[in-house]
Parts: sequence; structure tokens; C-alpha cells
Amino acid sequence: MEIYSYFLIFLSLFLLTKHVLHKSKNLPPSPLSLPFLGHLYLLKKPLHRTLATISAQHGPILFLRFGSRPVLLVSSPSAAEECFTKNDIVFANRPRLLAGKHLGYNFTSLAWAPYGDHWRNLRRITALEIFSSNRLQMFSGIRSDEVRSMIQRLVRGCSSDGGFKMVEMKSVFFELTLNIMMRMIAGKRYYGENVGESESEGARKFREIVTETFHLGGATNIGDFLPVLKWVGFKGMEKPLMRLQEKRDGFMQELIEEHRRMRSKFSDGERKKTMIDVLLSLQETEPEYYTDQIIRGIMLVLLSAGTDTSSGTMEWALSLLLNNPEVLEKAQDEIDLRVGQERLLDESNMAVLPYLHSIINETLRMYPAGPLLVPHESSEGCIVGGFNVPRGTMLLANMWAIHNDPKVWAEPKKFKPERLEGLEGRRDGFKFMPFGSGRRGCPGEGLAERVVGLALGSLIQCFEWQRVGEELVDMTEGTGLTLPKAHPLEAKCRLRPTMVNLISQL
Ligand code: HEM
Repeated sequence: MEIYSYFLIFLSLFLLTKHVLHKSKNLPPSPLSLPFLGHLYLLKKPLHRTLATISAQHGPILFLRFGSRPVLLVSSPSAAEECFTKNDIVFANRPRLLAGKHLGYNFTSLAWAPYGDHWRNLRRITALEIFSSNRLQMFSGIRSDEVRSMIQRLVRGCSSDGGFKMVEMKSVFFELTLNIMMRMIAGKRYYGENVGESESEGARKFREIVTETFHLGGATNIGDFLPVLKWVGFKGMEKPLMRLQEKRDGFMQELIEEHRRMRSKFSDGERKKTMIDVLLSLQETEPEYYTDQIIRGIMLVLLSAGTDTSSGTMEWALSLLLNNPEVLEKAQDEIDLRVGQERLLDESNMAVLPYLHSIINETLRMYPAGPLLVPHESSEGCIVGGFNVPRGTMLLANMWAIHNDPKVWAEPKKFKPERLEGLEGRRDGFKFMPFGSGRRGCPGEGLAERVVGLALGSLIQCFEWQRVGEELVDMTEGTGLTLPKAHPLEAKCRLRPTMVNLISQL
């Protein structure tokens, strides 16, 4: 009984002191927090939904504590605007989380590096050497080649009697994006029937690394929020992360060595250039900056940031189309009218397919692959919504909440691509920004747009699609950083009779 009374007195004093301090510092509002845990006790998966509920109850600008880590949670277009315009530089840092230490080369890779000269330089070279229109154009053959392979794979799976056949689309999309990315990076494909004998061992290792990366990368490390656990011997995810990074590092280094050997044997004109080649050329002119580690870091960032974001978006888009057949029909009509059925659509057709563009945007509105963006951190104190935000606060911008807020979007749960018609690019102020905004916004937007547009457009052009049963496709969200579907998409497809001749010539 006595202990219980002491505990109550301690708790009351704690809450009172917190309240007074909070008020005197003019911090944003904050729901009830517990000693030691802060607001961790409120968090359930999926995080973006739980945080949206908390914001709906307490306001669009909140100050939370995840254990010992202060967090600013913003969930309205105007608050997001304040963070990514007048405070953009202040929030251009990333928090030092365990994943960034072990998977991000001790916070030196593009996605994890703090704002400063090194990060600016990485953004500059990747903007020029990887994401520029010229470079993207250089690799367009790889993308169309891989999309054709995907079509052939689906055709092979189709019934010979022209009936519908069931396909599992999650792995189709995932393998498509991984093949595209690895061919751009290293000139190799690791999935599909045509993977060469000599590459099959590499392919096996690569697939193992990919599976582990998404498993560990998507997990929350409690040690990030309660560092005190380390002192009592809690190791958590640290060991598995270190082991995984060793494997990833070794794999990428082998690819670099292989490229070095090839470069010394053959001249540039004799071989197709890959991103590793581009980076090794830079290394020749500036060896002290473009170390092998920098190159490995760039390869790994592209691979982790650029694959399941794009493939997940395609999976959601096709799921939405299956549940809304009238939209699918309209998209097919647009493609038939603007591209026809005598040739496969290509990336240059995207400009004349505005409805397809709106379908992808509407998918990204409802299911943004970065629902909370990637966490930012303030490098100094600043003001948001009239409140003080201290230095070292982690910023979570809940884009999912903004994209699905009935105050911002009429009937947000309805899939209506028409609402985004006429929108150029992938931004509508601060109420629609699936790729983020400002200095730390996604540099891979142009690439994602090409891959998703080409793949989805080709599937609509070549096949008829149906759900596997009467019931709607299950749209439950799973857990993971990139908003995966809880249940992999299965669908039925058959080659359109009008496309049979064309496809048989592929
Ligand atoms: C549908 C596809 C994609 C979506 C929705 C998406 C979304 C995002 C978002 C929301 C961020 C965080 C922005 C912020 O911190 O404010 C981001 C960062 C990033 N994305 Fe993407 N992304 C996609 C595809 C890609 C692709 C294809 C690549 C490259 C191959 C890529 C590379 C990156 C990198 C390197 C960063 C970190 C940038 C930095 O910290 O400076 N993304 N992306």
C-alpha cells in the first residue's frame, strides 16, 4: 500500500512538473506521457494510422516523446509547409538511428548523412550522374526490356485456351524493379528464367540479402528511443544489422571488383556502361573522394530506396483498378486511343496519357510509399505554428494523414483519379507530396515515374484483368516502412485477343 502511495505521489509530481515546464517553454501541445516511455505506450502498428488518430484528437502540430527522443508530429498542409519552406534547412538533418549507423555507413550514405558538404556533394553527383534526364534516358532500354520480360512471363502463365489465369503480382512487381535497378547499377539481372548459370549463385546471395534488408530495415529498433537499455546489456537489433551490412558490403564490393577487371580488359566502346562504371570513372579523376565505400553506399541506397517503393505503388494501383473496373476501362480506352494496339507503349507516350498519370497520383495519395516521409531532425531551435521546437527534435510529417484528411480532400477514401487531373508533376502544394519536398525530397521521383508509368501502362494495354473472386481485393495495410499491402495481390489476367500477334513477336 505504501509503495502504491509513493508511486502515485511520484507520478503526480512528474506530470505537474512536466506540464509547467512544457508551458513555460512554449512547446506544441502534447498528450499525456509516461515517465521513461514518454508516448511510446500509445504507438501501435501501422504507425501512420495511430499517429493520425492522435493528431485528430490533439491537433495538427504535436510534441511527443518516443522514450528519450523528442518528436514533432505535423499533420496539416500548413504545418508541413512551415517545416519544408522557412525551416527547410533547419530540418534537413536526419536522426541518428541505429539503421543509419549500420546500414548507412555510419551516417555517411545519401539517405542518412546529415545536412552539410558531404550530403550536398552526394546529391549533386547523383543528380548529375544518376538521376539526370540524360542518364535516365541512357538506361531506358533496360526498363523497356524488363517490362517486356514481365509481359512475356505473364503470357507464359496464361491459359493456352485464352481463358483467365491467376497470377501473384507482388513478386512480379518486386522482381521487375529489382532487375531494373540491378541492371542499371551493375548490368546484371537476378530474377527470372533467363538468369545465366554463372549468375545463379550471385542471384541466390542477392535475393537473400534483399529479403533480410527489407525484414530488418522495416523493423523498429527500440534502442533508438530507449538508449538506457544498452546499459543493461540489451543488444536488440544491433548484431543482426551488423551481420547484414557485412554481407551487403561484401556483395557490392565483389561487383565493383568485377567491373574493375572488365574495365581493364575492354574499352568503354566495347561494353555497356553501368552506374558502377560511371562512379569508377569519377574515382579515376578524384580517388580520395570517390572511395569504394562511397560507391557501395550509393549502390545500396538506390537499391533500398528505389525498389519496394515503386513496386508497392504498382501493387496498390492494380488493386485499386481491380476494385474500380470503370477506371481500368477508361485507362485502357485512353491507351488504345493515344497509343493504339499495333505497338507497345513506351516511356515517351506518358505525356499523352494524362489519365494514367492521374491514376498513379491518386494511388500515391491514398497509399503513399513514404507515409511519414523519412524522419528529419532539427539542427537548431525553430518555430512551427507559433510554438518552439528545440534543437535535436525528430520531425515526422504524416503525409498519409494529410492525403486522407476529409478536411483537405472530399471523400478521401474514394479512388477518384479525376480529382488530380490537370496536375503537372507529383505535387499539389503541401496537401499532396508523396515524394516529400525541399532539400531532402526524393531524388528518384523521375525514375519512379518512368518505371511505374511504363509497367502499369503496359499491363493495362496488353491484358484484361479480373479479381480472383466476387469480393473486392483486400486493401488492408501491412506493417513496414513503405506501406506494404497486408496480403500480396492475386489477380486473374488474360492476353487481349487484339494483342496476341504483337506479343508473339516480342
Ligand atoms: C513511388 C516511388 C517512390 C516514392 C513514393 C518515394 C518517396 C520518397 C520519400 C517520401 C522520401 C523522403 C523525403 C523526405 O525525407 O522528406 C524519399 C527519399 C529518398 N528517395 Fe524516394 N521514393 C520513391 C522512389 C525512389 C527511387 C526509384 C529512388 C532511387 C532509385 C529513390 C531514392 C530516394 C533517396 C536516395 C532518398 C533520400 C534522399 C535524401 O535523404 O537526401 N526513391 N523518397
